[in-house]
Amino acid sequence: MSILLGFAARHQNAKDPDVKNFNRLARLDEYLKLPENEVVERILSKKAELGKRLIILGHHYQRPRIARLSDFVGDSFGLSEKAAKAGGDFIVFCGVRFMAESAAILCQPHQKVLHPDPDAGCPMADMANMDQVNAAWKALENWTGSKKIPVTYMNSTAELKAFCGQRDGIVCTSSNAAKAFDWAFSRGEKIFFFPDEHLGRNTAKKMGITGADVVVWDPAKTNGGLSQDEVKRARVILWAGFCPVHMEFKLKDIQHVRHFYPGCKVVVHPECEKEVVDAADASGSTEFIVKYVAELPDGETVFVGTEVNLITRLAQDNPRKKVFKLQRSLCLTMYQINLANLAYTLDHLDELEPVELSPSVKAGAKTALDRMLQLV
Ligand code: 13P
Ligand code: SF4
Repeated sequence: MSILLGFAARHQNAKDPDVKNFNRLARLDEYLKLPENEVVERILSKKAELGKRLIILGHHYQRPRIARLSDFVGDSFGLSEKAAKAGGDFIVFCGVRFMAESAAILCQPHQKVLHPDPDAGCPMADMANMDQVNAAWKALENWTGSKKIPVTYMNSTAELKAFCGQRDGIVCTSSNAAKAFDWAFSRGEKIFFFPDEHLGRNTAKKMGITGADVVVWDPAKTNGGLSQDEVKRARVILWAGFCPVHMEFKLKDIQHVRHFYPGCKVVVHPECEKEVVDAADASGSTEFIVKYVAELPDGETVFVGTEVNLITRLAQDNPRKKVFKLQRSLCLTMYQINLANLAYTLDHLDELEPVELSPSVKAGAKTALDRMLQLV
């Protein structure tokens, strides 16, 4: 008997959250021991049995096997649109927690959203919490009377989305950040953007906003490390958060590949630092990157600066092009979703707990997400 099964057998109180989690892990242990083809068979037969009652949504960073078993694969924006329109009873979300939460906020009340690994969060989303953002907001309110619009990146907790919804703010993704900034500037004089400093800076630059007009609020510093004058002058106040996966890509990587592969193309995600985005041929959301590579002429060489599982799939799907990674950078929490926990989730759809949020958080976050979905 494995250690996990032993633990579960000794602890019978199924209501204790720790015990529940161990029971889940113990049963998952059995799935992890099954041969891969058997696990795939189980997933396929469950999909066939449930038909339209089930939709599996997968983010582009999922392992290729998971992406190919998903009914829809997309970027954060496409997935949120799909969740808002999906039919059926069960939405199984293969991605990280903020994505599953957004699906739970946007889906219909009778639908159940399940996340194959409820522990799979996004390190960047965890870089801004409600207390920190509240404290920053209060300080900014004290320092300047100008109207500020809070804009949160999709990669944030549902509470922060609700914070924006309740304060005339909005959610954005990497595919509509400039539209969201335009929307915000038509309603206020300053934008307070969290948690990704780099997407914020790259978006501001796209709109011609640079220099002292952009400042960074660092929650680890007193008063965010800013003076009242700096805040008064700024048009965009960014949060000092970042994606560890995209921080791996450096300007020297682009200089290196351009030197050894003259004429190659470089496409990166806008969560990369500004100097990386500036040096690339193009930047955009994961869906943008997929289309960019698909539209390149045959024979082209392209280096991609984003999560490695997407690049692996891009290379498989574009055999007539030379698709390379700029660096190998893996999103560990996206990788927590695997065939075993997907199969386990599908086999226990009725008994597993859905992704759940309090009604007030859900309502506030929905307001901010709906504003994003209405952007044209
Ligand atoms: P996309 O919205 O571009 O898919 O990005 C999500 C993400 O987590 C990137 O790191
Ligand atoms: Fe979060 Fe970065 Fe992973 Fe995207 S790639 S989910 S931003 S840690």
